[in-house]
Amino acid sequence: MRKNIIAGNWKMNTTLCEGLELAKGLNEALQGKTPKCDVIIGTPFTHLASVVAAIDTNKIGVAAQNCADKEKGAYTGEVSAAMVASTGAKYVILGHSERRAYYHETPEILKTKVILALANGLTPIFCIGEVLEEREAGKHFDVVDEQIKSSLFDLSREDFSKIVIAYEPVWAIGTGKTASADQAQEIHTHIRQTIASKYEQSIADNCSILYGGSMNAGNVKELVSKPDVDGGLIGGASLSVENFLPIVEAF
Ligand code: 13P
Repeated sequence: MRKNIIAGNWKMNTTLCEGLELAKGLNEALQGKTPKCDVIIGTPFTHLASVVAAIDTNKIGVAAQNCADKEKGAYTGEVSAAMVASTGAKYVILGHSERRAYYHETPEILKTKVILALANGLTPIFCIGEVLEEREAGKHFDVVDEQIKSSLFDLSREDFSKIVIAYEPVWAIGTGKTASADQAQEIHTHIRQTIASKYEQSIADNCSILYGGSMNAGNVKELVSKPDVDGGLIGGASLSVENFLPIVEAF
């Protein structure tokens, strides 16, 4: 059956020193505990190897927040999926709305990134979600369908079954405005149906679909109480142990 997952996305926050302190703090806080979900932290590239070395990676998985759409070569400043994997990170967040909006990542580019991530043994946490105008126009179902189809639906059954989906409505990211648990459940069910119609019901049933967007200790329980909400991708509230731990413990 599918896994419950709580993943932090630190975004462009923390120096190496601060990031190590945060990762070690979380690691310590989880000692002697057995969370009922997988715990992942998505750190900046610069922190990956050091964080992997500093924590118990059986307890906390480590994710990059991006990888290149090229294998290797003359692409100054880029970080390949193979490089990410070589740090010991096991996951990569792909298709975040901030990358789509600010760095012009197209569905085609994301499709290539997903393929390279999988080829290097990384689990993609693939983000989808509509902007406010699309939600208000009632187009959110079509938007997420298109995002999934255009970047993921050429994958084989076997490869698709390795993907984690994160539904993050753009209007809820960093705004303090969360989707209601019913809104999250409604669209997660829809996403699962879309997956089932392309692949098969068992693949859809086994796919972890996370919610992201202003998730915090106060709203996590209600959101994850919904049958199709399998956890969360947390931005702001993942930046301190104090805020992140109660989210992990919500299951
Ligand atoms: P916030 O939790 O800060 O709203 O960010 C959500 C997010 O974008 C996680 O990827």
